[in-house]
Amino acid sequence: MKTKQFPFYALLLLININMFAQQKKPIYLDNNQPIEARVKDALSKMTLEEKVKMCTAQSKFSSHGVPRLGIPEIWMSDGPHGVRMEILWDSWGHANWTNDSCTAFPALTCLAASWNPEMSMLYGNAIGEEARYRRKEVLLGPGVNIYRTPMNGRNFEYLGEDPYLASKMVVPYIQGVQQNGVAACVKHYALNNQEKWRGHINVELSDRALYEIYLPAFKAAVVEGKVWSIMGSYNKIRGEFACHNNLTLNKILKGEWKFDGCVITDWGGAHDTKESALKGLDIEMGTWTNGFTSNKAFAYDDYFLANPYLKMLKSGELPISNVDDKASRILRLIFRTAMNQNRPYGSLATVEHHNVGRTVGEEGIVLLQNTTKLLPIDANKYKSIAVIGENAVRKLTEGGGSSELKVKKEVSPLQGLKEKFGAEKIKFSLGYASGAVSYDQVLKSKLNADSLRKAAVKIASESDIVIFVGGLNKNTQQDSEGDDRRAYALPFGQNELIAELQKVNKNIVLVMLSGNAYEMPWIKQATSLVQAWYIGSEAGHAIANVLAGDVNPSGKLPFTFPVKLTDNGAHSFGAIAYPGDSVNEVYKDDILVGYRWHDTKKIAPQFPFGYGLSYTTFTYGKATADKKSMTADGKITVSIPVKNSGVVKGKEVVQLYVNDQKSSELRPEKELKAFQKIELNAGEEKIVSFTIDKTALQFYSDVKKEWTAEAGKFTLLIGASSRDIKGKVEFELQ
Ligand code: BGC
Repeated sequence: MKTKQFPFYALLLLININMFAQQKKPIYLDNNQPIEARVKDALSKMTLEEKVKMCTAQSKFSSHGVPRLGIPEIWMSDGPHGVRMEILWDSWGHANWTNDSCTAFPALTCLAASWNPEMSMLYGNAIGEEARYRRKEVLLGPGVNIYRTPMNGRNFEYLGEDPYLASKMVVPYIQGVQQNGVAACVKHYALNNQEKWRGHINVELSDRALYEIYLPAFKAAVVEGKVWSIMGSYNKIRGEFACHNNLTLNKILKGEWKFDGCVITDWGGAHDTKESALKGLDIEMGTWTNGFTSNKAFAYDDYFLANPYLKMLKSGELPISNVDDKASRILRLIFRTAMNQNRPYGSLATVEHHNVGRTVGEEGIVLLQNTTKLLPIDANKYKSIAVIGENAVRKLTEGGGSSELKVKKEVSPLQGLKEKFGAEKIKFSLGYASGAVSYDQVLKSKLNADSLRKAAVKIASESDIVIFVGGLNKNTQQDSEGDDRRAYALPFGQNELIAELQKVNKNIVLVMLSGNAYEMPWIKQATSLVQAWYIGSEAGHAIANVLAGDVNPSGKLPFTFPVKLTDNGAHSFGAIAYPGDSVNEVYKDDILVGYRWHDTKKIAPQFPFGYGLSYTTFTYGKATADKKSMTADGKITVSIPVKNSGVVKGKEVVQLYVNDQKSSELRPEKELKAFQKIELNAGEEKIVSFTIDKTALQFYSDVKKEWTAEAGKFTLLIGASSRDIKGKVEFELQ
């Protein structure tokens, strides 16, 4: 038998395959290698010019990659409650794509009002999926600046006035986004608590206020949430711009918190090459060439961290290690996102995402008043329903500044109410009109205010029940970026209108859409009041579901509603404390922000922090603790039975506050240190327990410059709001 010859060409092929297999992929391209090894490898292959290039923008919303090595650019998008429409390469115009319509999720005040970290996870994941589908590496959000004054035009983008609540809510949001291979970019770090003069105002404050109030949510984002990027704010902090600030970026963020991600400027937030190089900045994004001051087309090479930076590195004025650190951080960001081959593909404006938006909205809506039990509305009882107010029909996903959205769908409150209660029963009247959206000025309405009011009062007098939908909107000087509100009162004559409606109809449900508190001169006559924030795509459905009782409201206020503006701490020390003298601003309210101020100074709020009603009632039993004293390294557990004493299922947010009975330094009357949202069927009872350790008892001592818990007596207060304390236990810290 003839043996078969192994063909020569087959042998060659085998040799080739073998050689190919032995030709190793560079480490940085190998998705299975540890990220740090990939960073080191890529960095070793890069020229100085390539490293520098990565540190600046190449367009309005992207920064450079390394094309020679196949390392892609980074694409970013606003944030924080939807993925913004595409913007032109080198100007702020909309690019008018036809495939970039997103889901508008509820604004972050609404998310905070849910007091439910599970909502944050759902939200973060859904918006992360949208960002991924839209091929974004970085989502410019969430925002965690503390709500210091109701005047701040951007409060709607943040998580309220309490550092503990904001910290608990921000972490799952970040994890949800980042599990999609998209970096969250927590903003605006730090002390950007107002829009007025945001580009230059210098904030002065105590270390104590910094560490206790303004930093914890950022710290939680970095240390617990492991966020991959952070955005520096526009303002100055103790004399240095926040985008290149030795204290907040080098010492605290990269030093104390060991942040290994990228510091990105707010757009145009860099002001100097050497400062940017040495004081913590990694990527310079921008509006114009020179911070805010001069404009030039395609100016990217002139950015502070572009050619001027390269020049300083080449001349030896700056060490190469400086750019190596920045490039390493940027590479790390790219390997975590664009070059992560395992990331999912994402999806955009799906039914699932709209459901997430509606669910978060329903959990965040706060029932503030329901004295005559008008709510939930039983539509069978009424033949005619008047819906009054511009916010019933206004597109509230537009405007507001950089968080503007182009949406696939936006259900207005009017539409939601018609679907729920029957269009034939509903008559709509505008009642007031705010005018067009304009970034620079509030345009006067062309509609005659008098005739609008009269028409509304007429239909109110002829209807069985009135649903008024008002509040603020996304016009400038309201809930909008770039400037602050001018007045605490509701705009466009709404107070007068509400007062007139109250005269002609006793059955009025007030539904307010806003991201801020406002004055309520009509509150004594208001039997039903609902705070419904900005809910986005599913606003109308969420509102209608709550008004009809298909969803039992369970939101609680994430910030205080003062009776008048001067009741707020930031407004109690003259202009230097807010808005500043145009150069400096001193946070004289110090640690007494929000309810900390109202409680310590004994100023009754209109509605307190943590407040919100339900269609059912909850009865609290006796609070007990597992011990009477606690060692410094020990723990204490406090428990309280909570019963649904009404007839419908509902959710309650049980809140734990700590009071330090005696201290060597000022302490607020009480501070939130834990909370739990529980669901109870009618008649059901659950025991809610909280375990805390000394971190819940300590303060940042301005004297010792460290966190301290002083021995002595503490009271743990458990309540349904910061001012509705249901049970107390005392214990001693040894
Ligand atoms: C805003 C940021 C935003 C950026 C990009 C800035 O004006 O302050 O929050 O992410 O623009 O749009």
